[in-house]
Amino acid sequence: MKQIYMDNGATSFPKAPGVIESMTYYLQSVGASVNRSAYTSAYASENIVYETRELLCQIFDFDNPENMVLTKNVTESLNVLIKGLLKPGDHVLVSSMEHNAVMRPLNGLNNHKITYTKVPCDSHGGLLVDTIDSLIQKNTKAIIMTHASNVSGTILPLEKVGRICQENELLFIIDAAQTAGFMPVSFKKLHADAIAFTGHKSLLGPQGTGGFMITTPLAEMTSSLMEGGTGSLSYEEIQPRYMPDKFEAGTPNIPGIYGLHAALSYLIKEDIKTIYEKEMALTSAFIMGLMNISKIAVIGIPETKDRTGVISIDFRNRDNGEAAHLLAKNFGILTRSGLHCAPSAHQTLGTYPHGTVRFGLSHFMTKHDIHDALYAIHHISTSGGSNGI
Ligand SMILES: Cc1ncc(COP(=O)(O)O)c(C=O)c1O
Repeated sequence: MKQIYMDNGATSFPKAPGVIESMTYYLQSVGASVNRSAYTSAYASENIVYETRELLCQIFDFDNPENMVLTKNVTESLNVLIKGLLKPGDHVLVSSMEHNAVMRPLNGLNNHKITYTKVPCDSHGGLLVDTIDSLIQKNTKAIIMTHASNVSGTILPLEKVGRICQENELLFIIDAAQTAGFMPVSFKKLHADAIAFTGHKSLLGPQGTGGFMITTPLAEMTSSLMEGGTGSLSYEEIQPRYMPDKFEAGTPNIPGIYGLHAALSYLIKEDIKTIYEKEMALTSAFIMGLMNISKIAVIGIPETKDRTGVISIDFRNRDNGEAAHLLAKNFGILTRSGLHCAPSAHQTLGTYPHGTVRFGLSHFMTKHDIHDALYAIHHISTSGGSNGI
């Protein structure tokens, strides 16, 4: 059976052309570590790592490659930022649509007298920006917010939030897991102090890659979570204070970075705006088709404005987990059901605790794939309930 991969909200597949070749090239023909040795292949890998920082700067409209820190994913990046910045007595604002990559580190800090308030969102996941002013407290230090929901695909109006941060002298930390590579994301336009990203979703790179970019003042305020060898200042037994070494201890995922380098080069060559338009055309066709299926509910914004290509649906007459299973087993449509590591988002959207079936589109898909997926959803939604498979 042909398989149609629609789990791009979790991780993208396929990867960008060139990713596999670049990783294989490193493993077969380069092999050297970075910042530690003085021979040609070590310089070659160092160059690729530096160029990767530069490509990321280009993609995120960010000026300083030294402040582009490479980590293994956005979860690690958010942990560094949250745990390195917040001190006892601090308060932060988040949205009610956050992923556990934000909520769990924050809740982990609760017994350290660090508190948070959720800015409410409507039942489509749209941020109620006007409530922010009234939620800011004397001890509010930062707003930490996802750029787009990984459940409903709703894009949050972060330019406005960035302006509110500037007006109130709050730090602004963004989780761009769902928007990086999907749409243009500008560090400058968002008035961000730090943007965390992961390399394996719409940036089309391999798993185990990610990072964050950070302003120098925020980098100075943030302590490092991991400390160890950097290949620099080896005579000292304390972590270097300068960037990016402050936040990059231990040997990095060099094959992954080679893969990410190829993926970023592809995105720049193809142009993210063009990729975005292609994915949104597919998203529009998919949503229009879903609207004609009566026994499901489309969760979140029922149109293409202010959303990504992540679409959640709720089967009215069957369990969503069972529906996802049937989609895979009988039609080769690969999705993800459940709560998607974002219980608060499901509470906001009214789909807690049963969850949804989530479809994550990719510009590599075709109209034919969308047609096949719609056919399968229609078939499953009309072919009886739990005991009438
Ligand atoms: C909004 C959001 N934040 C954080 C994450 C965590 O990503 P990763 O597992 O790559 O750290 C994800 C993906 O699952 C996500 O969608």
